Amino acid sequence: MLFPDTVAIALGACNVMLFEVRDLKMYYEIIGKGLVRAVDGVSFSLERGETLGIVGESGCGKSSLALTILRLLPANAKVLGGEVLLDGVNILKMDLEKFRREVRWRRISLIFQSAMNALNPVIRVGDQIAEAIMIHDKGIRKNEAMKRVKELLALVGIDPSRAKSYPFELSGGMRQRVVIAMALALNPDIVIADEPTTALDVVVQAQILKLIKDLQRKLRLSVIVISHDISMVSELSNKIAVMYAGQIVEYGDIKDVFYNPLHPYTKALLYAVPSIRGKRRRLNPIPGAPPDLLRPPSGCRFHPRCPFKTDICIKEMPELIEADEGHFVRCHRFEELRGVAFG
Ligand SMILES: Nc1ncnc2c1ncn2[C@@H]1O[C@H](COP(=O)(O)OP(=O)(O)OP(=O)(O)O)[C@@H](O)[C@H]1O
Ligand SMILES: [Mg+2]
Repeated sequence: MLFPDTVAIALGACNVMLFEVRDLKMYYEIIGKGLVRAVDGVSFSLERGETLGIVGESGCGKSSLALTILRLLPANAKVLGGEVLLDGVNILKMDLEKFRREVRWRRISLIFQSAMNALNPVIRVGDQIAEAIMIHDKGIRKNEAMKRVKELLALVGIDPSRAKSYPFELSGGMRQRVVIAMALALNPDIVIADEPTTALDVVVQAQILKLIKDLQRKLRLSVIVISHDISMVSELSNKIAVMYAGQIVEYGDIKDVFYNPLHPYTKALLYAVPSIRGKRRRLNPIPGAPPDLLRPPSGCRFHPRCPFKTDICIKEMPELIEADEGHFVRCHRFEELRGVAFG
């Protein structure tokens, strides 16, 4: 018979979220200039098998967020607060050796932005994947690693005989598949894909998206997909976080955010997406430019571009609050602006 305490512990363990980022802050220091507030109070969570899309304009801190999670930051980066919890354990505080051995690539892997162009041009792709496996699995022999390489290539839709090819012999789509195979090499639970389809033509983009979707289902992966393209992200994700100037400004289930956007920036992003089925209209880029994160605007960071701003928006930074169940927004005026279109 189980004792009540044991039952409580067992139930507690079931409730632990797979992955959670809480109030994460990471700034880059530029000597003589100050701090670039690249990740400034970011929070979100991810359950097993979920896909979260993170969208936002260039320079808003998407890649910085991924690099902070994987502890792959350059020397001038400073993590100034917050937690990254994997199964309830803060992996930012974990001993770096233990993190390397047990977490990076093994539990959480990253498909780097532009990784397909960073494959080593003079090493056969099969050997590159095998090397990634052998670095982390010291006991594995080369022929076992090559067997795994062939399984991985088949998994991502490449004929295993292509293990002998050099990167230049493969198309862009195939190179991206190789990079995805590398990210899956150690059977991670979470894969972060940073702009996995940019630099590919639209047909290949669709194939790569389908591949990520199929892999996610087949392997029950949790995926974080990062992009500046909200329509691409919506193809894959069941949750979405909209980032602006180092912060999440809206976050929730994709349906809630798409059909009932609450933040003026999300409304603007959705308004800027051309619709295939909808009426023809001019594509509306958002007026103004994203702020310089060395000197972000006071109050709400979006206020200089927001047609709805009032005094409070200029003076006070809004908190990310739960506006509807599971639907969060960082805007002082979201309630009165419900249903009001941008611009
Ligand atoms: N090593 C660094 N030192 C100083 N500032 C940096 C460094 N790396 C990035 N930044 C700055 O941090 C901010 C966020 O950059 P990041 O690359 O995370 O944006 P992003 O959202 O991934 O953009 P993109 O869509 O273009 O990939 C930018 O202002 C960028 O200039
Ligand atoms: Mg980036």
